[in-house]
Amino acid sequence: QRIIGIMGALPEEINGVVNLLQNKKEHRFGKRIYYTGTINNQDVVVVYSRIGKVAAAATVSTLILKFNITELIFTGVAGGIASDLKIGDIVLGTELVQHDMDATPLFPQFEIPLIGKSHFKTDSEFLKLGENSIQHILENSYLHQVIDTEDLDQFNIHHPKLHLGLIASGDQFFKDSEQKNNLLSNLPDTKCVEMEGAAVAQVCYEFGIPFIVIRTISDEADQHSTIDFMKFTEKISNIYSIEIIKNIIK
Ligand code: ADE
Repeated sequence: QRIIGIMGALPEEINGVVNLLQNKKEHRFGKRIYYTGTINNQDVVVVYSRIGKVAAAATVSTLILKFNITELIFTGVAGGIASDLKIGDIVLGTELVQHDMDATPLFPQFEIPLIGKSHFKTDSEFLKLGENSIQHILENSYLHQVIDTEDLDQFNIHHPKLHLGLIASGDQFFKDSEQKNNLLSNLPDTKCVEMEGAAVAQVCYEFGIPFIVIRTISDEADQHSTIDFMKFTEKISNIYSIEIIKNIIK
């Protein structure tokens, strides 16, 4: 029997999904609240981990070991790194890397010691499903029907696009172009940066759980990122999560 874990870092990225649950029950473990229930008759467990790799790793481990999830969807926001990404675009991770892992000279930069890899791939079938679902949302302008025009205008969101590619994660909030350029010089294929995805990817890899990471661009990981991030998460990120999760589960 399939049980889908649905995880985000912040309440602003996940509360909307909690509100979709039928037969909702609350469970408290390790300072987190896990909500079990169904969406479209599909069993799910929804939780926000709080920010950072440790918080995310602890939460996904609990989802796997206590709630017996069989697959995981991570949804939330990210800072845009590639120059063609705009606020409101969506990135579906094909691979995740921990950009702050550096055990050189013992191991190559970014490699997770004793695992022998730096990049964790998302599940290809699950990725295809995510891609189709998100294209469906974007082609039918569902987001424009549910987000205030004023909020869309504020961020210049007109025709949001889907991008597939590498997501970099680390315990750093990107707030200037120097950080951004530094990341690009080390990991030039990076689409966006966030603080949980690659930790979740490593734990899912270790337990053999198929997963996908879906990130909406909230800011451009530059000197404006703090204010953009705060405004975007306050007003918009929950709505993206709701539409994305509804369509994937359907
Ligand atoms: N998540 C959203 N925006 C981010 C940024 N600028 N840096 C790190 N994580 C983020």
